[in-house]
Amino acid sequence: MNIAVVGTGYVGLVTGTCFAETGNEVICVDIDADKVEKMRQGEVPIYEPDLEVLFERNQRQGRLSFTTDLKQAVDHAEIIFLALPTPPGADGSADLRFILGVAAELSQMITRYTVVVDKSTVPVGTGEQVHAALAEHLSEDLFDVVSNPEFLREGVAVDDFLKPDRVVIGTSSSRAEESMRRLYEPFVRSGNPIIFMDVRSAEMTKYAANSYLATRISFMNEIANLCEIVGADVDAVRKGMGSDSRIGKRFLFPGVGYGGSCFPKDVQALARTAGQHDYSFRILDAVMNVNDYQRLRIADKIEAYYGEDLKGKTVTLWGLAFKPNTDDIREAPALYTIDRLLAAGAQVRTFDPEAMDNVEALYGDKVVFCEDQYEAATGADCLAIMTEWSVFRTPNFDKLKGALSKPVIFDGRNLYDLRRMVEAGFYYDSIGRTTVG
Ligand code: UDX
Repeated sequence: MNIAVVGTGYVGLVTGTCFAETGNEVICVDIDADKVEKMRQGEVPIYEPDLEVLFERNQRQGRLSFTTDLKQAVDHAEIIFLALPTPPGADGSADLRFILGVAAELSQMITRYTVVVDKSTVPVGTGEQVHAALAEHLSEDLFDVVSNPEFLREGVAVDDFLKPDRVVIGTSSSRAEESMRRLYEPFVRSGNPIIFMDVRSAEMTKYAANSYLATRISFMNEIANLCEIVGADVDAVRKGMGSDSRIGKRFLFPGVGYGGSCFPKDVQALARTAGQHDYSFRILDAVMNVNDYQRLRIADKIEAYYGEDLKGKTVTLWGLAFKPNTDDIREAPALYTIDRLLAAGAQVRTFDPEAMDNVEALYGDKVVFCEDQYEAATGADCLAIMTEWSVFRTPNFDKLKGALSKPVIFDGRNLYDLRRMVEAGFYYDSIGRTTVG
């Protein structure tokens, strides 16, 4: 099929590349001429495992191309995906300027029947606004608007896209339904469902799924904090809970709070949507409240140990990205921690396998960026683990102990076995477990 993807951010680029991979002819459009030129030269603008190989192959084989010319893409496409940014506006609600702007342009460009698909996360009711913008200069039989929310996770986005648990399609048109079914069938050969529903429900599904997952995380973080107080072990509790098939094992890991570009924004936006309809979504207020607390949990622990004045102390952070396998630092708990530590007078040394450049752009020489995890630990009064990169999972504990000036670890991701840490001679404080040493 002939596809256009408007917007080559994270979602747009993965979407375009993966559709090309199943044999479609894809044109990706962006207003950033510089970026388009670089992509034409074969440069992938984001770090995402597996994307580069697919990007290179499909570009070479002529199924994936890039342009700044929206009209060219519109003339090519049967289906146009909108993967545009929806940043939070001043009041926290999603800003639809980009989406509605492109819809207005499309209204003047489309000349034959086209399906316009909204892939960005947008508030309930946006589909109708896109429809209205398109209808401005277009006859209603020339287009359909579809909502197709994206559930991919950074770090495993390609895999999530190629093998989705489910595909959600919101549309009231059987013609659009048929096109979308044809496009997505190759991705659900395993038998996972394509779930069709109305546009509003599809828009709501995305917010409901992300907010529910964020709720699980905040709930587990509170269970963990209480485990510390009453002397229970959250690892055991998590396993005990998760083996109930009604609960399930995944997404029950306590830590330093959720970050990233989706959960914080989506929870806030759903709470706001409720507010706009005079409904107070009480659980979501609590979820955000817990997360604000949890992302400073490690800083709180360090201050409880060393006192609130950290002048003369050096703290090492392992991990800056909001989660492993990405260089994304949006809403990363590590940044909130750095701010608190610097404000308390501490020196901060750090290592992250991918995200250091992004953090350096924000902090410059206020933070020391190191070549590897042991160099980062050298001379520090304690180590704080913020991201569960694999490379941190089995360190050489003797080397680590030799590097630190004191063998003290605050682990925000529960990477190590407690007994092992006692044997290795560390003071070890993690999340929801007994502190040892
Ligand atoms: C999320 C959704 O999973 C995805 O479906 C949606 O499309 C976009 O938002 P992403 O933000 O890439 O994806 O990351 P995810 O792996 O879901 O993790 C989000 C945050 O939750 C991270 O900060 C992670 O550390 C935290 N988390 C996750 C926990 O603290 N505990 C868990 O058990 C799982």
